[in-house]
Amino acid sequence: MSDAVSFPLLNPDLNQILLVIGRKGSGKSVFAREVFMSWPYIDKFVIDPTGDADPGPGATTIRTLPAQLPEGIRKGDFKTTRWIADPSSKTYREDLDRAVGLALYPKHRRVLLWVDEAGEVFPAGRTGPSARTLLQQSRHWYASLIACTPRPVTIDPLLLSQADRVVIYDLPHPRDRERVAAGIGVPPGDLNRALDETRARGPHWYLLYDARAHELYRCPPLPISAGYKHAEQ
Ligand SMILES: Nc1ncnc2c1ncn2[C@@H]1O[C@H](COP(=O)(O)OP(=O)(O)O)[C@@H](O)[C@H]1O
Ligand SMILES: [Mg+2]
Repeated sequence: MSDAVSFPLLNPDLNQILLVIGRKGSGKSVFAREVFMSWPYIDKFVIDPTGDADPGPGATTIRTLPAQLPEGIRKGDFKTTRWIADPSSKTYREDLDRAVGLALYPKHRRVLLWVDEAGEVFPAGRTGPSARTLLQQSRHWYASLIACTPRPVTIDPLLLSQADRVVIYDLPHPRDRERVAAGIGVPPGDLNRALDETRARGPHWYLLYDARAHELYRCPPLPISAGYKHAEQ
Protein backbone atom coordinates (compact mmCIF):
# COMPACT_ATOMS: atom_id res chain seq x y z
CA MET A 1 0.00 0.00 0.00
CA SER A 2 1.55 3.27 -1.12
CA ASP A 3 0.25 6.76 -0.62
CA ALA A 4 -0.82 9.06 -3.41
CA VAL A 5 2.54 10.79 -3.70
CA SER A 6 3.80 8.12 -6.08
CA PHE A 7 0.51 7.98 -8.02
CA PRO A 8 1.51 6.76 -11.47
CA LEU A 9 0.28 9.17 -14.13
CA LEU A 10 -1.85 7.85 -16.92
CA ASN A 11 -0.15 7.67 -20.31
CA PRO A 12 -2.78 8.62 -22.91
CA ASP A 13 -0.64 7.22 -25.76
CA LEU A 14 -1.31 3.71 -24.50
CA ASN A 15 -4.58 1.96 -25.24
CA GLN A 16 -5.88 0.85 -21.90
CA ILE A 17 -8.82 -0.20 -19.77
CA LEU A 18 -9.86 1.70 -16.64
CA LEU A 19 -12.52 0.32 -14.34
CA VAL A 20 -14.13 2.61 -11.77
CA ILE A 21 -16.16 1.05 -8.97
CA GLY A 22 -17.90 2.25 -5.81
CA ARG A 23 -21.33 2.75 -4.35
CA LYS A 24 -23.77 5.26 -5.82
CA GLY A 25 -22.66 8.84 -5.25
CA SER A 26 -19.07 7.91 -4.41
CA GLY A 27 -17.57 9.76 -7.39
CA LYS A 28 -17.32 7.27 -10.28
CA SER A 29 -18.86 9.45 -12.98
CA VAL A 30 -16.89 12.47 -11.82
CA PHE A 31 -13.67 10.48 -12.12
CA ALA A 32 -14.62 9.05 -15.51
CA ARG A 33 -15.57 12.47 -16.83
CA GLU A 34 -12.32 14.10 -15.74
CA VAL A 35 -10.23 11.37 -17.35
CA PHE A 36 -12.41 11.33 -20.45
CA MET A 37 -12.29 15.10 -20.97
CA SER A 38 -8.56 15.39 -20.40
CA TRP A 39 -7.54 12.52 -22.74
CA PRO A 40 -5.91 14.26 -25.71
CA TYR A 41 -5.79 13.51 -29.45
CA ILE A 42 -8.45 10.82 -29.71
CA ASP A 43 -12.03 10.35 -30.93
CA LYS A 44 -14.33 9.76 -27.98
CA PHE A 45 -17.58 7.92 -27.56
CA VAL A 46 -19.95 7.65 -24.59
CA ILE A 47 -22.47 4.84 -24.24
CA ASP A 48 -24.98 6.27 -21.83
CA PRO A 49 -28.07 4.18 -21.02
CA THR A 50 -29.29 6.57 -18.30
CA GLY A 51 -28.59 9.95 -19.91
CA ASP A 52 -26.45 10.85 -16.86
CA ALA A 53 -22.94 10.72 -18.32
CA ASP A 54 -21.95 14.26 -19.25
CA PRO A 55 -18.94 14.27 -21.58
CA GLY A 56 -18.41 18.02 -21.26
CA PRO A 57 -18.60 20.79 -23.85
CA GLY A 58 -18.29 20.07 -27.56
CA ALA A 59 -19.91 16.63 -27.58
CA THR A 60 -22.63 15.66 -30.06
CA THR A 61 -25.52 13.73 -28.50
CA ILE A 62 -27.25 11.10 -30.68
CA ARG A 63 -30.13 8.71 -30.04
CA THR A 64 -29.73 6.52 -33.12
CA LEU A 65 -26.56 4.57 -33.78
CA PRO A 66 -24.70 5.54 -36.96
CA ALA A 67 -22.79 3.08 -39.16
CA GLN A 68 -19.53 4.70 -38.02
CA LEU A 69 -18.53 7.26 -35.43
CA PRO A 70 -18.28 10.83 -36.79
CA GLU A 71 -14.75 11.83 -37.78
CA GLY A 72 -12.99 15.17 -37.89
CA ILE A 73 -12.62 16.69 -41.33
CA ARG A 74 -8.97 17.61 -40.97
CA LYS A 75 -6.16 15.51 -39.52
CA GLY A 76 -5.88 16.40 -35.85
CA ASP A 77 -9.61 17.16 -35.48
CA PHE A 78 -11.26 14.85 -33.00
CA LYS A 79 -14.92 14.27 -32.26
CA THR A 80 -16.81 13.40 -29.09
CA THR A 81 -20.08 11.54 -29.55
CA ARG A 82 -22.54 10.57 -26.84
CA TRP A 83 -25.18 7.96 -27.57
CA ILE A 84 -28.15 7.80 -25.23
CA ALA A 85 -29.37 4.22 -25.40
CA ASP A 86 -33.04 3.36 -25.13
CA PRO A 87 -33.53 0.57 -22.54
CA SER A 88 -37.12 0.07 -23.72
CA SER A 89 -35.99 -0.84 -27.26
CA LYS A 90 -36.58 -4.50 -28.23
CA THR A 91 -33.03 -4.60 -29.55
CA TYR A 92 -31.49 -2.90 -26.51
CA ARG A 93 -28.85 -5.61 -25.81
CA GLU A 94 -27.85 -5.87 -29.48
CA ASP A 95 -27.76 -2.08 -29.75
CA LEU A 96 -25.37 -1.86 -26.82
CA ASP A 97 -23.02 -4.38 -28.36
CA ARG A 98 -23.25 -2.71 -31.76
CA ALA A 99 -22.31 0.55 -30.06
CA VAL A 100 -19.18 -1.09 -28.60
CA GLY A 101 -18.41 -2.21 -32.16
CA LEU A 102 -18.28 1.46 -33.20
CA ALA A 103 -15.30 1.88 -30.88
CA LEU A 104 -13.57 -1.08 -32.59
CA TYR A 105 -14.10 -0.44 -36.31
CA PRO A 106 -12.27 0.71 -38.34
CA LYS A 107 -9.55 -1.19 -36.57
CA HIS A 108 -6.73 1.36 -36.75
CA ARG A 109 -8.74 4.34 -35.63
CA ARG A 110 -8.04 5.25 -32.00
CA VAL A 111 -11.18 5.62 -29.89
CA LEU A 112 -11.75 6.23 -26.19
CA LEU A 113 -15.02 4.73 -24.97
CA TRP A 114 -16.79 5.66 -21.73
CA VAL A 115 -19.40 3.22 -20.46
CA ASP A 116 -21.05 4.67 -17.36
CA GLU A 117 -23.16 1.55 -16.66
CA ALA A 118 -20.77 -1.34 -17.16
CA GLY A 119 -23.34 -3.83 -15.83
CA GLU A 120 -25.48 -3.14 -18.91
CA VAL A 121 -22.74 -3.47 -21.52
CA PHE A 122 -20.56 -6.13 -19.86
CA PRO A 123 -23.07 -8.21 -17.86
CA ALA A 124 -21.61 -11.33 -16.22
CA GLY A 125 -22.24 -14.33 -18.46
CA ARG A 126 -23.93 -12.30 -21.23
CA THR A 127 -21.20 -10.14 -22.72
CA GLY A 128 -21.79 -9.62 -26.44
CA PRO A 129 -19.16 -10.36 -29.13
CA SER A 130 -17.92 -6.79 -29.61
CA ALA A 131 -17.76 -6.20 -25.86
CA ARG A 132 -15.75 -9.39 -25.43
CA THR A 133 -13.38 -8.42 -28.23
CA LEU A 134 -12.85 -5.05 -26.61
CA LEU A 135 -12.08 -6.61 -23.23
CA GLN A 136 -9.73 -9.24 -24.61
CA GLN A 137 -7.93 -7.27 -27.32
CA SER A 138 -8.36 -3.55 -26.71
CA ARG A 139 -4.75 -2.81 -27.70
CA HIS A 140 -5.00 -4.55 -31.07
CA TRP A 141 -8.07 -2.46 -31.85
CA TYR A 142 -6.57 0.85 -30.68
CA ALA A 143 -9.44 1.20 -28.22
CA SER A 144 -9.39 2.45 -24.65
CA LEU A 145 -12.21 2.04 -22.18
CA ILE A 146 -13.37 3.80 -19.03
CA ALA A 147 -16.11 1.70 -17.42
CA CYS A 148 -18.04 2.40 -14.21
CA THR A 149 -20.13 0.14 -12.01
CA PRO A 150 -21.50 0.19 -8.45
CA ARG A 151 -21.65 -3.64 -8.25
CA PRO A 152 -18.56 -5.53 -9.43
CA VAL A 153 -20.36 -8.87 -8.86
CA THR A 154 -22.72 -8.08 -11.74
CA ILE A 155 -20.04 -7.48 -14.40
CA ASP A 156 -18.12 -9.89 -16.60
CA PRO A 157 -15.06 -10.93 -14.53
CA LEU A 158 -12.95 -10.26 -17.66
CA LEU A 159 -13.43 -6.55 -17.14
CA LEU A 160 -11.74 -6.75 -13.74
CA SER A 161 -8.98 -9.06 -14.85
CA GLN A 162 -8.26 -7.08 -18.05
CA ALA A 163 -8.31 -3.63 -16.44
CA ASP A 164 -4.96 -1.83 -16.48
CA ARG A 165 -6.23 0.31 -13.62
CA VAL A 166 -9.04 -0.16 -11.15
CA VAL A 167 -10.27 2.86 -9.22
CA ILE A 168 -12.08 1.75 -6.06
CA TYR A 169 -14.29 4.16 -4.17
CA ASP A 170 -16.31 3.20 -1.12
CA LEU A 171 -17.51 -0.36 -1.65
CA PRO A 172 -19.69 -1.50 1.25
CA HIS A 173 -20.85 -4.94 0.08
CA PRO A 174 -18.54 -7.77 1.22
CA ARG A 175 -19.27 -9.82 -1.92
CA ASP A 176 -18.17 -6.93 -4.13
CA ARG A 177 -14.98 -6.61 -2.12
CA GLU A 178 -14.30 -10.34 -2.45
CA ARG A 179 -14.88 -10.23 -6.19
CA VAL A 180 -12.53 -7.30 -6.63
CA ALA A 181 -9.85 -8.88 -4.46
CA ALA A 182 -10.03 -12.09 -6.49
CA GLY A 183 -10.09 -10.18 -9.79
CA ILE A 184 -6.98 -8.13 -9.10
CA GLY A 185 -5.16 -10.82 -7.13
CA VAL A 186 -4.90 -8.99 -3.81
CA PRO A 187 -5.55 -10.92 -0.55
CA PRO A 188 -9.14 -10.09 0.58
CA GLY A 189 -7.98 -9.08 4.07
CA ASP A 190 -5.48 -6.61 2.61
CA LEU A 191 -8.09 -5.05 0.34
CA ASN A 192 -10.62 -4.84 3.19
CA ARG A 193 -8.17 -3.01 5.41
CA ALA A 194 -7.12 -0.66 2.62
CA LEU A 195 -10.76 0.12 1.79
CA ASP A 196 -11.71 0.72 5.44
CA GLU A 197 -8.76 3.06 5.92
CA THR A 198 -9.60 4.92 2.71
CA ARG A 199 -13.25 5.36 3.70
CA ALA A 200 -12.11 6.78 7.06
CA ARG A 201 -10.23 9.57 5.25
CA GLY A 202 -13.50 11.11 4.05
CA PRO A 203 -15.83 11.32 1.04
CA HIS A 204 -14.48 10.70 -2.47
CA TRP A 205 -11.13 9.25 -1.39
CA TYR A 206 -10.28 6.22 -3.48
CA LEU A 207 -7.86 3.39 -4.01
CA LEU A 208 -6.13 3.02 -7.32
CA TYR A 209 -4.91 -0.40 -8.38
CA ASP A 210 -2.23 -0.40 -11.05
CA ALA A 211 -2.06 -3.80 -12.74
CA ARG A 212 1.37 -3.34 -14.29
CA ALA A 213 3.02 -2.55 -10.95
CA HIS A 214 0.54 -4.78 -9.07
CA GLU A 215 0.27 -1.98 -6.51
CA LEU A 216 -2.53 -0.25 -4.60
CA TYR A 217 -2.33 3.50 -4.05
CA ARG A 218 -4.51 5.63 -1.78
CA CYS A 219 -5.61 8.87 -3.42
CA PRO A 220 -7.38 12.04 -2.21
CA PRO A 221 -10.52 13.34 -3.99
CA LEU A 222 -9.84 14.26 -7.58
CA PRO A 223 -10.13 18.02 -8.25
CA ILE A 224 -13.25 18.68 -10.32
CA SER A 225 -13.04 20.86 -13.45
CA ALA A 226 -14.80 24.20 -13.49
CA GLY A 227 -18.29 24.03 -14.98
CA TYR A 228 -19.27 20.71 -13.42
CA LYS A 229 -22.94 20.63 -12.41
CA HIS A 230 -23.12 18.80 -9.11
CA ALA A 231 -25.88 16.22 -8.84
CA GLU A 232 -28.68 17.14 -6.44
CA GLN A 233 -28.15 15.08 -3.30
N1 LIG B 1 -13.71 14.37 -6.36
C1 LIG B 1 -14.82 14.95 -5.87
N2 LIG B 1 -14.74 16.09 -5.16
C2 LIG B 1 -15.84 16.70 -4.67
N3 LIG B 1 -17.11 16.24 -4.85
C3 LIG B 1 -17.26 15.11 -5.53
C4 LIG B 1 -16.13 14.39 -6.08
N4 LIG B 1 -16.59 13.30 -6.72
C5 LIG B 1 -17.93 13.33 -6.58
N5 LIG B 1 -18.34 14.41 -5.89
C6 LIG B 1 -19.75 14.79 -5.57
O1 LIG B 1 -20.53 13.60 -5.46
C7 LIG B 1 -21.59 13.64 -6.43
C8 LIG B 1 -21.80 12.25 -7.00
O2 LIG B 1 -20.67 11.87 -7.76
P1 LIG B 1 -20.82 10.91 -9.01
O3 LIG B 1 -19.48 10.82 -9.66
O4 LIG B 1 -21.95 11.34 -9.87
O5 LIG B 1 -21.19 9.54 -8.28
P2 LIG B 1 -21.39 8.07 -8.90
O6 LIG B 1 -21.16 8.16 -10.37
O7 LIG B 1 -20.36 7.23 -8.19
O8 LIG B 1 -22.78 7.67 -8.51
C9 LIG B 1 -21.13 14.64 -7.49
O9 LIG B 1 -22.23 15.25 -8.12
C10 LIG B 1 -20.34 15.64 -6.67
O10 LIG B 1 -21.20 16.59 -6.07
MG1 LIG C 1 -22.45 7.78 -11.92
